[in-house]
Amino acid sequence: MDVRALKYTDDLRGDVLLFVAEDQVENYNWPTPLMKSLSEAQGFGGKFGETAYLAYLEDGAEKPRQVILSGLGKSAELSLEKLRRACGKALNEADKRKIQTLSMLPWSLDVLAAAAVARAVAEVALLVGYRFDRYLAEKKERSLTSLQVCYEEEQEVDVIRGLKLGQTLGQATNMARNLVNEPANYMTPEQLAKEAIEAGEQYGFAVEVLEEEAILELGMEAYLEVGKASANRPRLIIMRHLGNPSEPQEILGLVGKGITFDSGGLSIKPAQGMGAMKSDMGGAAAVIGAMSAIAAEGLKLNVVAVVAACENLISGTGYRPGDIIGSMSGKTIQIESTDAEGRLTLADAVYYMVTKEKATKVVDVATLTGAAIIALGNTTTAVLTNNQELYANLELASESSGERIWQLPSFPEYREQNKTPYADLKNTGGREAGTITAGLFIEAFVEETPWLHLDIAGTAFSAKNQDYLAEGGTGVGVRLLYHFAESLV
Ligand code: BES
Ligand code: MN
Ligand code: ZN
Repeated sequence: MDVRALKYTDDLRGDVLLFVAEDQVENYNWPTPLMKSLSEAQGFGGKFGETAYLAYLEDGAEKPRQVILSGLGKSAELSLEKLRRACGKALNEADKRKIQTLSMLPWSLDVLAAAAVARAVAEVALLVGYRFDRYLAEKKERSLTSLQVCYEEEQEVDVIRGLKLGQTLGQATNMARNLVNEPANYMTPEQLAKEAIEAGEQYGFAVEVLEEEAILELGMEAYLEVGKASANRPRLIIMRHLGNPSEPQEILGLVGKGITFDSGGLSIKPAQGMGAMKSDMGGAAAVIGAMSAIAAEGLKLNVVAVVAACENLISGTGYRPGDIIGSMSGKTIQIESTDAEGRLTLADAVYYMVTKEKATKVVDVATLTGAAIIALGNTTTAVLTNNQELYANLELASESSGERIWQLPSFPEYREQNKTPYADLKNTGGREAGTITAGLFIEAFVEETPWLHLDIAGTAFSAKNQDYLAEGGTGVGVRLLYHFAESLV
C-alpha cells in the first residue's frame, strides 16, 4: 500500500475518508453541503466502529464521488488504538467498494496529536491489507492500493514525520508476521538467521551468526540440549544497533524465543493444533522487527538483540524427561518436560546477554506458556519484571502502540515451584501459575539486571481476521518494543 502526505485544498477531487466523532456530527465542517445532507439521510451518528458509504455525481463529473465516513465515538473517550480500529474498518469498507485511491481529510480533533494520528493511520494502512499468500498460485489483489493523508499547512511537519514512522513500523510488523507465518520446513534456524541478516542489510544494523561449535564454546548447554533432536541445527543470532556511542556501557538487550517448531519433544504435544507451533519463534520475529524499526529510525541508544534459534523435535538424539543438564551460568537443570524448552533456550540467551554483551537492561519476548492464554486470552501480553521503573516505561510503550500488557506478580512463594532436590532448578513448576513460574525460571539467569519478561503465547498468533489484524502471525511486540526503546532515549 502506497501511503503519502498531501496538502489539503478546497478543490480536492476523488474518493475521500472522513473520521467523525459522535459529538462532532452536528457541527462538522463538511467539505460540501451535499456530503452533509447525504450523511444525515443515512443517519450516520459517528458511533465508534460505525461506517457509512456515500456516492454521488458531482456537476460535470464522469464517475461518482465515493465517501467513507468512519465514526470515532465520543471524542473525550478517543484513543489511538480506537482510531486504529476505526481506520481498519474504514479501509476494509473502501476496499470492498473497489476504491483504489482514498484521500483522508485533515485531522480536526485536538484529543490526539496530528503526528500520532498520521503514524497510527499509516500503520493500519500497511497492516490491514496484509495476507500471507506467498505459496498461492492465484493471489487475491486488494483494490485499495493508495492512501493520501491530507493535512493543513500547520500540520505538515508532524504529518510527514508521523507517516514515515508509521510506515516503518507497519513494514517491520509485516516482516515479523511473514517470519511467523512461514512454515517450519522453510523457516529453519538457518533460514531465520538469513532473514535477520537480510533485515540488517535493509534497515542498517549489524548481524552476527554463531553455529554449533561457537555456541558450545560459549557453554550454552541448556540451549543446545533443546536442539539436539533436529537435523536443522541451531543458530545463535546476534543483532547490534549502536546508536549512542558516547555512552557505550548503556545497552538495552532484547531476547526473542526462536523455536522454529515446537513438537514438544518426547513430552509430545497433542496432534490437534500442533501445526500452529511454527509460530514458536514469534518472540524472535518481534525482536528482529523491532531492531529493524529501531535502526531505520536511528534511535540514539545501544540495542543488542539475541535469538537462540533451534527446533524442538523428536529423535534418538534428543533430550529426555528426567535428564539433568548444564547451562551457561553453571546452574544445573532437571528436565521435567521436554515441552518446557523455551525457558531453557532463554536461560542461556539472557545469561549470554548480561555476561557477554553486558546489557544493562534486558527484555525477553517469548511464546512461552499455554497458561498465558488461559490467564489473559488473545488480547493481552503477560509481563513479569524485577523492576517497576522499567515496567512503567513498558506501560507508556503499550499506550503508544495499542499493544495491551498486564503484569503478573512474582511473589517469592512462586520460586519454590521451580525447585528440586536433584538440581539447581527444574524446568517446570507444575500447572499452577504456569506463566509466572516460567518467567521466574528465566529471572534466575538475569542476575541483578533490570528485566522485563513478555509472554506472547496468547498474542502472537490469531485464529481470525479482526479489524487491522490478519489471521496468523500478528507481529505483536514489534511496535511495543520499538516504543519501549524510544522511551529510554
Ligand atoms: N510454545 C509452548 C507454549 C505455547 C502454547 C505457545 C500454546 C503458544 C500456544 C511452550 O514451549 C510450551 O509447550 N509450554 C508448556 C509448558 C509446560 C510443559 C510447563 C505449556 O504451556 O503447556
Ligand atoms: Mn514447548
Ligand atoms: Zn515452545
